[in-house]
Order: sequence, then C-alpha cells, then structure tokens
Amino acid sequence: MRDSSSPGSMPAAENNGLAAEAVDAIEGLSGVHPGYRRAHARGICCRAVFRPNGLAAAFTTAAHLQEQESAAVVRFSGSSTDPALADLLSPAKGIAVQFSLPDGGTTSLVGATLPVFFARTPESFIDIVRTAHKAREGNLGPLELIKEITTHFSESKESFLSLNKLKPPASYAESHYYCIHVYIFVDAQGKKHPVKFEWVPDAGVRNLSLTDARQQPDRYLEDELELRLKAEPVVFQLNVIFGKDGDPTSDPTKAWPEDRRQIEIGRLYLTEVITEPEELLMDPAAVTEGIELSDDPILHFRRTAYGESFHRRRGEQ
Ligand code: HEM
Repeated sequence: MRDSSSPGSMPAAENNGLAAEAVDAIEGLSGVHPGYRRAHARGICCRAVFRPNGLAAAFTTAAHLQEQESAAVVRFSGSSTDPALADLLSPAKGIAVQFSLPDGGTTSLVGATLPVFFARTPESFIDIVRTAHKAREGNLGPLELIKEITTHFSESKESFLSLNKLKPPASYAESHYYCIHVYIFVDAQGKKHPVKFEWVPDAGVRNLSLTDARQQPDRYLEDELELRLKAEPVVFQLNVIFGKDGDPTSDPTKAWPEDRRQIEIGRLYLTEVITEPEELLMDPAAVTEGIELSDDPILHFRRTAYGESFHRRRGEQ
C-alpha cells in the first residue's frame, strides 16, 4: 500500500533529476509562489464521503470500491501556476480526491476538465512547458501560443483543441472531470481490466457566457462553492470506462472510442468547505491493492514531480 498522505513515503530523491527539471520548467511560467503547489496553485478543500454501489466489486478488490463508505478530502483548483490569477483566466479546472482506506492508508484520484493531456512523455512535457515559456516572453497571445505549441508538438493537438473549446464553468460542482490515465482493475481471480475514471456532476454541466464570466469576481468559483454547500451537499458520480483490446493504455494524449462500456460505481457527497489539511499531497499514482498503474509514463512520472513540488512548497511554509 502506498500512502500519499504520508510525506515520509514520498520518493524525494527517486527520478529526482527529471522531476526537478519539470518543476523548474513549471516555475518558469509565473515564478515561484512560496508555499503554493507549483501547478494548480489555488484551490479549495471540502470534506466528503464516498459511497460505492458495489458494482465495481466484480472487477477490483480495492477496499474503497466495495460496499463500505469511506471518508474523503476533495480539492478543486484552477490549473494556473499563479495563485493570484482570476478564475476566468485559467480555463482548465481540477479535482483531486483522497479516499481514506479501512487500513488507515489513503488512495487518490486526480482529474481535470480536459479528456486528454498535452504530453506523451515527461521529456516532451518539459519541452512543451519551456516552449510555452519562450512564447510568453515573446508576448504571444493565447491562440498564437497554442498554434506555436501544436505546430512543434503534434501530440498536443487533441488536448489544445479541447482546451480551446472550454467555456468558463458556472461552478466547480457543475463540471465534468476526467482522470485521463488508464488504471488497471485487478479482480478477486487476478484478472486485469483496463479502466479510466470520470467524475460526473449530479447537478449537470453548466457554463457561463464570456460576458457573464467577465462580470464575476476573481474567485467566483470558490465563493459559489461555499454558498452552495451551505444550502445542500454537492454530489458527483464516479464512472469507470472499460477499455477493449487495442485501446491505448500508455498514451494520455489519446482518447478511447466513445462507445466503450461505462458504469457508475459510486457517489461522492461533499458536505462542507474545510481548511486544507496539513501536508496534503494528492498523488495520482498512489493506488491501492486491487488497482495497478498502467504503462503510461506520465502517470508514473507524476508521482516524482508531485513529490518534488510538495517538498519545495513544504520547505517554504
Ligand atoms: C507530466 C505531467 C504532469 C506534471 C509534471 C504535473 C505537475 C503538477 C504539479 C507539480 C502539481 C502540484 C503538486 C503538489 O504540490 O501537490 C500538480 C497538481 C495538479 N495536477 Fe498535475 N501534472 C501533470 C499532469 C497532470 C494531469 C494529466 C492532470 C489531469 C488529470 C493533472 C491535474 C492536476 C491537478 C488537479 C492538480 C492539483 C492537485 C491537488 O489539488 O492537490 N496534472 N501537477
């Protein structure tokens, strides 16, 4: 079992060279903001309960996906590296969910409002972020920047196309989040099932027009969530999508065909906004027995990059 909540378990030194390069490259985008996450810098945390419906039990032995409910911490965030940036100016939003497990450990799922990622390998991630940095120094606008990146990195096309289509969300609670990578469910017989996870809002998806979004305060998404939770819980369905033979498992820039089998395996009930728990680290590679990582190099790399960011920000607090 890996425990992402325990900082002592993080591999600070493992693959540190490339992770440090990646985090340096990210810091190049808007400078260092001491104490903040190097990406998805500003966020809001909530207390939650996850209630599995039992349907996943045929495909995985993971304790939190059987029938017992588990406590969870949820953090919504804007994707920007700059914690002061207005919500409107960071189009992609994130969700990170840390489930408490019956044995005292934790496991996490991290998603974003984009169905695919822009880089296939850690090395190309670093090159793309550095290209974005240079383009910014050259004062390119957002559309020119996307053109510059997709001209040089064809793997980014699908992701930037989705980014370009994103509209400002009306609420963190009315957004659909994709966990992007493939994970492997392992059932009681040891059989493996490649899956992707998605968080689907019970309230439906709702966006704002640009005119309306421009009239919102900088932190409208946090304000809205606080107000909403005072009135009622926010609910998300956790869906899994099953891959078929031949569907890519190692490439987060590629979507699976839309007709793949999809089931709801439980619901997440968010009840109140809380202060961020100390030393919270949402590691998307912190899986638990019954779930394995796929062969996606980005998924494996995120563990060390998040560890690097965690160690930098913790040292600054
Ligand atoms: C090479 C790939 C990636 C790198 C290097 C990277 C880097 C980072 C870093 C350094 C952080 C801050 C971690 C911390 O201090 O706790 C972070 C947070 C985050 N990233 Fe990524 N990321 C990558 C891919 C992705 C992908 C594919 C997604 C979407 C599925 C994603 C969504 C998020 C979210 C939602 C957070 C905020 C987590 C939280 O609330 O604690 N990232 N990322």
